[in-house]
Amino acid sequence: MEILRLAKASEFYNIATKDLTPILQTKLIPHIKKLSASNRTSYYIPTLFVDYAKKVLNFSSISTAKGTLEDFKNKNGTKIITVSNLKGGVGKTSVASNLAYTLSVLNKRVLLVDMDSQANTSRYLANKYFTGNSIKNIFDTLMRKEKIDKEFVKQYISTLEFENSSLDLLPSELALGRVVEFSRAVFTMPHKKLNDILKHVKDDYDFIIIDTPPSTGLSLHMAIYASDMMSIVTDAEDFSVNGLKELSSEIEEIEEETDRSISVDSIFINKVKNSKIHEVYIEAIAKLAVEQNIENVYTIADSTRVKEAQNLHIPMLEYKRELDKNLVMSTSIMEYAVEKALQG
Ligand SMILES: Nc1ncnc2c1ncn2[C@@H]1O[C@H](COP(=O)(O)OP(=O)(O)OP(=O)(O)O)[C@@H](O)[C@H]1O
Ligand SMILES: [Mg+2]
Repeated sequence: MEILRLAKASEFYNIATKDLTPILQTKLIPHIKKLSASNRTSYYIPTLFVDYAKKVLNFSSISTAKGTLEDFKNKNGTKIITVSNLKGGVGKTSVASNLAYTLSVLNKRVLLVDMDSQANTSRYLANKYFTGNSIKNIFDTLMRKEKIDKEFVKQYISTLEFENSSLDLLPSELALGRVVEFSRAVFTMPHKKLNDILKHVKDDYDFIIIDTPPSTGLSLHMAIYASDMMSIVTDAEDFSVNGLKELSSEIEEIEEETDRSISVDSIFINKVKNSKIHEVYIEAIAKLAVEQNIENVYTIADSTRVKEAQNLHIPMLEYKRELDKNLVMSTSIMEYAVEKALQG
């Protein structure tokens, strides 16, 4: 995956920098902005979006000048984000997987961790079962009180190659839930165990995205303990607003129990339809977000394309590249990913 460098935009696009900058600032085209030591601003656009940029900017041709980013690692270390909600079927797995992929398109080194024994994340992007070869094996080993190291953890990580980028996956399997719950009987502080696993490989990544099951259990406690921040995915239905309140108090309890604080920095309201009733719930959720100091609220439209991409086991961004059709789920996720990438 290459990154198109817009250091001198006019050279590449035949457009005055002053005209291009506002367009980039609207985030209409996903990009990364970097300040050089001499305070000059450089813009980078993933090549994936070159066609998109051409359309938005109405260009007939685009320069082939390209630059790869020699060092685009996070400056502030690895960021670990848990994607969660106690409610099932709202889109946690869809958002976690596509967020992980989108960050990888932005040239970040990403590990996607599946902490749900349904293993939907593993199957969505890898299209296979990992029975006997998943994070569950690592927990098994820890429970036998055997020491683990980086090489041991790495043997359970697979690199998934896509058309435009690659990312790493630490997959799950059905038996994970049982093993995780059983670990309560073995460890005095079981909630620390995912952190104990991830610390061995953390330095290899800019972002670690953790998908969680739709329930409050040890898997969620472990994920929260290991994470810096949380992203909530919800739908715009009757029980969602109350569900979010329940989740907040659950998070508070987990924070107390695990002696770790986590900031919820975003809510994705998923499967939104163009209806009055959805408008009402979106407003209620947005109000709740303000009350709880959650900065980023995004909506994602309900679209069969999300399901279609999952059936084909490809990320949304790689499914139907055309501007209007492609960006159903991707725009909000891209917006969030770009923000995180810039903070990194
Ligand atoms: N924006 C969307 N539009 C249409 N369908 C969607 C959308 N987002 C997710 N879906 C579909 O909804 C179903 C549930 O999504 P997903 O598996 O991501 O939810 P989940 O919260 O992870 O579920 P679980 O609680 O079981 O882990 C899937 O079939 C998925 O394809
Ligand atoms: Mg899921």
